Amino acid sequence: MPTEEMKKKFNTFFKEEMTSFYPEDHTLFRAIRYALFASGKRVRPLLTCASAKMTGAKLEMAYVSGVAVEMIHTYSLIHDDLPGMDNDDLRRGKPTTHRMFGEGMAILAGDALVTDAPLYFVSKMNELGCKPELINEMLIEILKSSGTSGMVFGQSLDIINDSNKVGAATGQRDEAQKLELLKKIHYNKTGRLICLAMKLGAMGRTDSRIDQQLLNKVEELGDLIGLSFQVTDDVLDIISTSDKLGKTANKDSQQGKLTYPSIWGVEKSQKYACELLDKSVALIDEVSLAGEGEELRQIITALRNRVN
Ligand code: IPE
Ligand code: IPE
Ligand code: MG
Ligand code: MG
Ligand code: MG
Repeated sequence: MPTEEMKKKFNTFFKEEMTSFYPEDHTLFRAIRYALFASGKRVRPLLTCASAKMTGAKLEMAYVSGVAVEMIHTYSLIHDDLPGMDNDDLRRGKPTTHRMFGEGMAILAGDALVTDAPLYFVSKMNELGCKPELINEMLIEILKSSGTSGMVFGQSLDIINDSNKVGAATGQRDEAQKLELLKKIHYNKTGRLICLAMKLGAMGRTDSRIDQQLLNKVEELGDLIGLSFQVTDDVLDIISTSDKLGKTANKDSQQGKLTYPSIWGVEKSQKYACELLDKSVALIDEVSLAGEGEELRQIITALRNRVN
């Protein structure tokens, strides 16, 4: 299935699911729908679907996992944009949720999404006949990737090391130390959710449990794509425009963020992002059952084209 078609199908499913999950005409629900239905690229759910196809897992479960990951991702964006974090006015081509609905309501919209995602996930997976032990395992993955072992921890390292803020420590570090820290930031703030998306895709089955070796390989793939995705995001912040990105360009240097281009410059960072993706392509054959890695290859090609 070409990935464009996959994206269309996922978006239709996403809209239906989230409209029925959040139907009310109250401000909180309007704020949530505003953030969810803005034009995100849906990279994570696409990776979930591609990973399911590649490993012979069930696509209908990948759709549900994709929605749950997109809910958590959207919450992370709403909070990332708040004045206490990156203080952004533009997201997904529109004013940020706090600009539109006020800070308090944006905080609550994020709180609701992160709380509701596991609820949505468990009830849908039960409906689809997924075994309770597997739902439990998948849920643990979701929670681990999102909280203090994942995205939230990465975001905390990111804001501590924002050199415009009091207590920033980056100034005292040499290049190797900065790189080590940066890898940790990117691995957690972005890598964990991207890797989660891929793992959930491969885990979605009603029959026997997935073998751990295969899952480890999927994780390796997810880590490479995840790191590359944030390196690309850092590069695009410099070389692209707000119009194209749908978010304010040139923010990272203004805010003194530790990024790959801030250490290596744009060109070397672009090269690194591509190398990571090339490594991930080389892994596909090891993971794909019955040569079903085509969608993932397509997504990786699109990600590779984005960075240059
Ligand atoms: C933005 O993610 C935040 C990062 C982790 C880099 P995306 O670039 O996937 O944003 P959307 O979902 O398309 O808006
Ligand atoms: C954010 O990284 C990663 C998240 C966990 C949301 P950035 O702060 O670089 O993301 P953008 O550039 O605002 O989308
Ligand atoms: Mg940020
Ligand atoms: Mg940001
Ligand atoms: Mg960014």
